[in-house]
Amino acid sequence: MKANYGNWISRTMMKTFCGVAVGFYVLTGVLYLLLGKDTYYYVAWILAVMATLAMLYMGFCRYVFSFEGGGLMRRIHMHLLEHLPWDGKGTLLDVGCGSGALSIAAAKKFPTAKVRGIDYWSAMWNYSQEQCARNAEIEGVGARCTFTPGDAAKLDFPSKSFDAVVSNFVYHEVRTQKDKFMLVEETLRTLKKGGCFALQDTFGDKDRYGRMEEFLDYLKEHDEITEIAYVPNIARRISMPFPVRLMLRDCGLIYGKK
Ligand SMILES: C[S@@+](CC[C@H](N)C(=O)[O-])C[C@H]1O[C@@H](n2cnc3c(N)ncnc32)[C@H](O)[C@@H]1O
Repeated sequence: MKANYGNWISRTMMKTFCGVAVGFYVLTGVLYLLLGKDTYYYVAWILAVMATLAMLYMGFCRYVFSFEGGGLMRRIHMHLLEHLPWDGKGTLLDVGCGSGALSIAAAKKFPTAKVRGIDYWSAMWNYSQEQCARNAEIEGVGARCTFTPGDAAKLDFPSKSFDAVVSNFVYHEVRTQKDKFMLVEETLRTLKKGGCFALQDTFGDKDRYGRMEEFLDYLKEHDEITEIAYVPNIARRISMPFPVRLMLRDCGLIYGKK
């Protein structure tokens, strides 16, 4: 049996794009029958074509992301783990673990590590706690991986609990905390002194994160971070087709030690 890691562009999202496109074509047809080829008809027709192009673009990105197709999700996870300066001793926390893909990749890369994954598991991605546990069993790391529900905005762990913390493309999705800096701080709160972290998100999005240099200085000053580095625009460092690079253009990585 093969693990099922799903996709960051879920079936539900694809169905929504498809539904919107079909809706505009139906509207175009209705307007044609009611009014003939007037302005409203052309507007609806243009919207239908735009919705179709958006759907095709998302479908292409979905294929490139997928583990069975382009394998980009795996390469992005490996990019994060390659930057995690950890010896694999102790326990790693994966915040927003989704289908468990990054947690399981970490368990495979660090053969004695224990791994804890938490997620909100909302309906949007079709991911679940059972799926994570099943994937870990299939990949032969089930005994070292635990998955529990949790909120990235308020992690249910005492401060300084983990030897390593990771998170991939989660913070920008969190609705329970608007301040994305506070989410990073909440993740780092759970890291032990001497522990390591690697976090990927849309750090290049100035509206969400502002100037990263200032944030890195702030973390050093207020959150006991001793070493930190920022890698902007990871889409340029990982092999992927140009149209997908556009979608990931704001994504960056911060990594270091407490
Ligand atoms: C784009 S997916 C990334 C999943 C996984 N990190 C990966 O790299 O495959 C975003 C994930 O963030 C999770 N998420 C969203 N809001 C969350 C929250 N408040 N707390 C924990 N997880 C959350 C979603 O359920 C989803 O699994």
